Amino acid sequence: MCIPTLHSSKSRKPVWVFALIGLIASWIQPAFAQNVAPLEPSLKFVGTGSCAALACHGGRREPLDLKGSEYAFWSAYDPHKKAYGILFDKRSKVIEKNFRNLESLEVSAPERDATCLSCHVHPNFDAKSVDREEALVADGVGCESCHGPAERWLTAHTTFWFRGLSDREKHEQFGMTPTKDLTHRVEACATCHVGTPQADVNHDLIAAGHPRLLFEFANQQAKQPKHWRIEEDKARYPDYEIRAWALGQTVGTRSSLKLLASRAEASTVGREPGPWPEFAEYDCYSCHHDLKKPSHRQEFPREGVKPGTIAWGDWTLDGVRKLAEVRAPLPQNSKLAELQRLMATPNPKATEVASLAKAASTEIGPLIESIERQQFTLNEVDGLLSVFLRSTDKPQASEWTPAARGYLSFVALTRARGDLGGQGLDSGIVERLEALRGSLNVPIDQPEIGRLLDSPANYAPDKVSSELRSIREIIPH
Ligand code: HEC
Ligand code: HEC
Ligand code: HEC
Ligand code: HEC
Repeated sequence: MCIPTLHSSKSRKPVWVFALIGLIASWIQPAFAQNVAPLEPSLKFVGTGSCAALACHGGRREPLDLKGSEYAFWSAYDPHKKAYGILFDKRSKVIEKNFRNLESLEVSAPERDATCLSCHVHPNFDAKSVDREEALVADGVGCESCHGPAERWLTAHTTFWFRGLSDREKHEQFGMTPTKDLTHRVEACATCHVGTPQADVNHDLIAAGHPRLLFEFANQQAKQPKHWRIEEDKARYPDYEIRAWALGQTVGTRSSLKLLASRAEASTVGREPGPWPEFAEYDCYSCHHDLKKPSHRQEFPREGVKPGTIAWGDWTLDGVRKLAEVRAPLPQNSKLAELQRLMATPNPKATEVASLAKAASTEIGPLIESIERQQFTLNEVDGLLSVFLRSTDKPQASEWTPAARGYLSFVALTRARGDLGGQGLDSGIVERLEALRGSLNVPIDQPEIGRLLDSPANYAPDKVSSELRSIREIIPH
């Protein structure tokens, strides 16, 4: 994951437009994210070609927000379009060869491997269908990968009565994913950007050459070229920016905790138990770093982490904890805290991790529900920003991962502030955030590898610390 520039936000309408929307609309569409029936995994994908007709979604590409142009837009601009093509790349062949322990590149065929196809085409990919459904496969991550398998809704969804159904009915009876609901949207992205037991970018796959997955919904969604109108999202959710960030943190964390539970379970069962401990769970740079004097790990040890410990890579957990502080406090003796303590021990017992991770994923349910039901206020966003800004006192800059996470949170929260009528991303803040971003995308000796792994070989914690402080100076808190 590369750290995006802020200029993707240039096309934003002036802040006051959203402040006005915020004043007019104070309701939130009822959330139905909890309690929906799970989908039948057997529903079939029919292929993006079925959506491409001129009269349907294949209309003119420009202007970009024309309804009916989704196919043309996706083909031209969406990174998901090339997700299958990339499997023919030499890089993919090398990954597959290493991962499957094959003899040569000639026999390496990632384009036929169900593990790759489950993320590079659609979830639950059945390898037997590769030949039969060549056209479907060739489209990469197509419409149904996010909107749900269209077996039941393809014909129906063009009719008048279908449009009258609620999103919940479309979902439960027809298998269409309710992408307007942010919880479901985050879950749809997390299927591939976090992973599932069937499709897991674990350390074996990373060591084979796959980029590590760092899911941060608000950031990833900001980067995805959109074939829908963001204005409609904002009209639906007057506190859209902060809501998208908060649900990204919490729902994303819930998906990661479920993956951790399944990784732990898979390591105790079957003829070929999975690896344990699973290194992809940890902060990569706990293990992958050079030894030097002076050492920033000794000078500024990470908060709450004893030097020499392999830190759990709790990428989004920090956001969850801070949200809990302003919203719905986690219970005393929280399972999440217990899990953190367990994951800080050298070889945590897989069965204990599995049960604690499941309990912790249930525990953040009430926080998610509170975010779904109750609109954020400017005060709450300011409270969150203060909690983040205060934590820049502490040496969170000592490692790349928490510093990068801090950067992404500042961007989301200052944007959210503007959204709710406060001071947003003005040029002074943008300038300092850009300086911080520059220091996080550190220059590296091997640009290609660095881009893939975010390897902070020349990471300079003192520089990042002082940039964090300079941001603190100009944002009131
Ligand atoms: C859990 C889902 C998942 C699985 C399984 C998976 N990938 Fe990926 N892959 C991704 C995602 C998501 C990205 C984009 C990462 C990013 O940039 O944030 C990606 C990126 C890549 C890239 C880099 C693409 C680029 O444009 O730089 C290659 C190459 C790749 N995958 C090959 C493979 C191969 C080969 C397999 C099977 C051995 C595989 N992937 C399995 C989700 C997955
Ligand atoms: C990476 C995920 C993803 C992919 C791939 C994708 N979409 Fe979407 N789509 C979304 C999201 C998220 C929204 C915004 C929420 C909404 O309006 O449902 C959306 C919105 C839409 C809308 C607007 C719905 C409305 O009521 O305004 C249409 C139509 C649509 N997509 C069609 C397509 C078509 C056709 C394709 C394939 C060419 C496609 N999408 C591919 C995620 C995706
Ligand atoms: C079926 C799996 C799948 C789903 C669902 C999915 N993605 Fe992706 N996404 C991928 C893969 C695979 C790539 C890498 C494509 C490549 O580089 O060839 C990718 C790449 C991307 C990229 C470009 C790489 C990066 O991280 O900058 C963005 C942005 C992105 N996805 C956002 C999203 C968002 C937002 C959603 C949910 C609305 C989503 N994706 C849903 C599989 C998926
Ligand atoms: C508990 C220690 C540990 C953690 C945590 C860890 N790794 Fe590794 N990693 C290893 C070991 C040991 C090897 C194999 C030795 C080698 O090849 O250097 C390895 C090998 C690799 C390799 C292949 C060798 C190379 O240098 O290219 C890559 C790439 C890699 N790891 C990336 C990651 C990433 C990314 C993360 C975080 C998501 C991570 N590792 C987390 C211990 C770890």
